Amino acid sequence: MTSPLSETTLRESLRRVLAPGIGRSVVDLGMIQSIQTPSGGGVELGVRLPTPAYPLKNELSAALSAGIAQAFPQAGPVSVDYTWEVAGNETGGAIGLRVKNVIAVGSGKGGVGKSTMSASLAVGLKLAGARVGVMDADIYGPSIPHLFGVTGRPAIVEETGPDGKIIQRMDPIVANGVKIMSMGFLVGADDPVIVRGPILHRTIEQFLRMTAWGELDYLIIDLPPGTGDIALTLSQLLGLTGAIVVCTPQQLALLDAVKAINMFRKVKIPVLGLIENMSGEIFGRGGAQKKAAEMGVPFLGEVPIEAKIREYGDAGDIFGAFAAGSPAREALRNVCGQAALQIAKSLLETPKMPSLEIL
Ligand SMILES: Nc1ncnc2c1ncn2[C@@H]1O[C@H](COP(=O)(O)OP(=O)(O)O)[C@@H](O)[C@H]1O
Ligand SMILES: [Mg+2]
Repeated sequence: MTSPLSETTLRESLRRVLAPGIGRSVVDLGMIQSIQTPSGGGVELGVRLPTPAYPLKNELSAALSAGIAQAFPQAGPVSVDYTWEVAGNETGGAIGLRVKNVIAVGSGKGGVGKSTMSASLAVGLKLAGARVGVMDADIYGPSIPHLFGVTGRPAIVEETGPDGKIIQRMDPIVANGVKIMSMGFLVGADDPVIVRGPILHRTIEQFLRMTAWGELDYLIIDLPPGTGDIALTLSQLLGLTGAIVVCTPQQLALLDAVKAINMFRKVKIPVLGLIENMSGEIFGRGGAQKKAAEMGVPFLGEVPIEAKIREYGDAGDIFGAFAAGSPAREALRNVCGQAALQIAKSLLETPKMPSLEIL
């Protein structure tokens, strides 16, 4: 005795299907946009993903089919049509940012591949279709422009603010659709209005406020190593979606990663996950995954130590690391997918913190 096949009964049957990697009902998540039962038989679903980089699409399709088949063995084949809209909470409103998710990438120490991973996250999300920016907050060691192979001086543009006043902003420099702002574009510049000196948090604030980012799904911030004060500045300015910590498998770097995780926790920035970079023969592997589990932090994956990654970065072609034939492609795409998943998931779990008052 089965109930008749209708949009309502099908939706009811999908209520029990959990979105893989997120663990919540696809119906409760608002993912089911449309349900159709064409006269020729079968079921057509319109499903909206919370990120274009959702890494478990095949698993989701299978779970949706299974959910329907279980309730309605007579339903016939299920086809799924995917769309996406990045979930976010636009917490940068107070400083005029129209960015759905601001993600800080940090590490306890330098040289672990933090900038390479920041750039790779941006590239992976961009290639998936999202609108992405990268802010190079490593004021004293800016390497983002080099990784993307861009140079130049940002143009000053005039925008009309909400109060009708004219605001001057800097246009980010764009590399293959990724919007970039870095001190690397400004050093040597003689325009004292833009950067008033080595006052770190003031500079970060100006970068956020004065860059004409436009609307973005993800803004990735490459933090300087050992970044307590900058993380605090950021969390005072806007509600960060969270931080991603990069480490290498070496014990020493792992200890630094623990410090970085604790530091983010102390300033109440959710830790979205840990990436083990340069895993492989020389340094070993797997240490970060174990450490992440111990600390209750999602593990976003391993990126092997691979000369090609350094070569692409050195050549200013970080996009090349994602091209067909690049040996690191799958590992990098996996990390990006896992990061996108954790970003989407964290929005469901942590009620967004309003920006703290400036102390
Ligand atoms: N997975 C990797 N395999 C090989 N070389 C890497 C890898 N990740 C980063 N590198 C290289 O290591 C060096 C440091 O990386 P970088 O991203 O600048 O680190 P950080 O920003 O933490 O100082 C760079 O030369 C970079 O090309
Ligand atoms: Mg760096």
